[in-house]
Amino acid sequence: MKALTYQGPGKKGWVEKEKPGIQKPTDVIVKITKTTICGTDLHILKGDVPAVTEGRTLGHEGVGVVEEVGSAVRNFKKGDAVLISCITSCGSCPNCKRQLYSHCSDGGWILGHLIDGTQAEYVRIPHGDNSLYPIPEGADEEALVMLSDILPTGFEIGVLAGQVKPGDSIAIVGAGPVGMAVLLTAQFYSPGRIIMIDTDEARLEMARQFGATDTLTVGKDDVIASVMDMTDGLGVDVAIEAVGVPATFDTCQKIVSAGGNIANVGVHGTAVDLHIEELWIKNINISMGLVNTNTTPMLMKTLQSGKVKPEQLITHRFKLGEIEQAYEVFGNASREKAMKVILTQ
Ligand SMILES: NC(=O)c1ccc[n+]([C@@H]2O[C@H](COP(=O)([O-])OP(=O)(O)OC[C@H]3O[C@@H](n4cnc5c(N)ncnc54)[C@H](O)[C@@H]3O)[C@@H](O)[C@H]2O)c1
Ligand SMILES: [Zn+2]
Ligand SMILES: [Zn+2]
Repeated sequence: MKALTYQGPGKKGWVEKEKPGIQKPTDVIVKITKTTICGTDLHILKGDVPAVTEGRTLGHEGVGVVEEVGSAVRNFKKGDAVLISCITSCGSCPNCKRQLYSHCSDGGWILGHLIDGTQAEYVRIPHGDNSLYPIPEGADEEALVMLSDILPTGFEIGVLAGQVKPGDSIAIVGAGPVGMAVLLTAQFYSPGRIIMIDTDEARLEMARQFGATDTLTVGKDDVIASVMDMTDGLGVDVAIEAVGVPATFDTCQKIVSAGGNIANVGVHGTAVDLHIEELWIKNINISMGLVNTNTTPMLMKTLQSGKVKPEQLITHRFKLGEIEQAYEVFGNASREKAMKVILTQ
């Protein structure tokens, strides 16, 4: 079979690789029908994630059809259409028992990281019973690919951890796929004002189409002063960080109101200055974490009922065999006006 593999910093290849087989009775082999590329894959390719070794197949998102099941798999059989979660979980270890799937003792984020991922013709999913979800009849498979990672991430780590409530003023710093997923899922709770902040004007235009009430351009607008103006000098109830750099976390600590929440979604590679000397008196909460994907069944229902339309985030479509071209487009997202790409086999 063919797979997109990491071949050291800056190098990748669409290469011939052995088709995965069952290794443990709980494994499921899935034939990929649709997959996508995540910003995390770009980080891996730069060499930012040293745990990824040469030859590793990338990708942790996708939908497919069950090709083969291990002897202990009870929920799936050959031919079933499935959604692959970016988080693999056994469902029975102490962390899984409290739905902290991202910290499963035999799983977590391993796909396209510690084991071969979804940017291939076939993938082996460990603990298939708990790490795959059946696709409802007639569901939009492209929309479902957004449920492997970005929608649960934005919803769990941004909206739920940030405790977005009806009428709240919220700010989302970062209008990439994850910030957009926060924007889409925050609207379940009818916030009064949604201020989207980014450097990229095209992404902010997209954010306005998807429900942002206000947008601010970093480098052009005075972001802090504008947010304060918009909120009668109080700041926002919820400030959500969806970039992963010190400057954007700093923005969040400057615009959060007393009694508010800072929800950090971004993955950070360097330390940030926490201004506890200003924040201690403000009765705020700060949250952060890795997505658990425990809300995936709920998000599937909202997708089925048309309450959320994540397919809006798809800007480009390719055949799986054109994945190197897709990386070229996604890697130059601003120039190409790309948000999410879909690869179909
Ligand atoms: N916590 C989790 O479980 C989890 C899961 C998936 C992704 N993430 C992280 O979420 C973050 C966002 O992911 P993404 O795929 O949307 O990333 P992305 O790189 O596609 O988007 C980031 C956005 O931030 C904007 N930006 C860059 N610098 C900025 C600045 N100084 N001020 C304002 N905006 C700025 C960019 O223009 C871009 O639109 C990343 O750090 C990613 O690693 C976290
Ligand atoms: Zn991802
Ligand atoms: Zn577990």
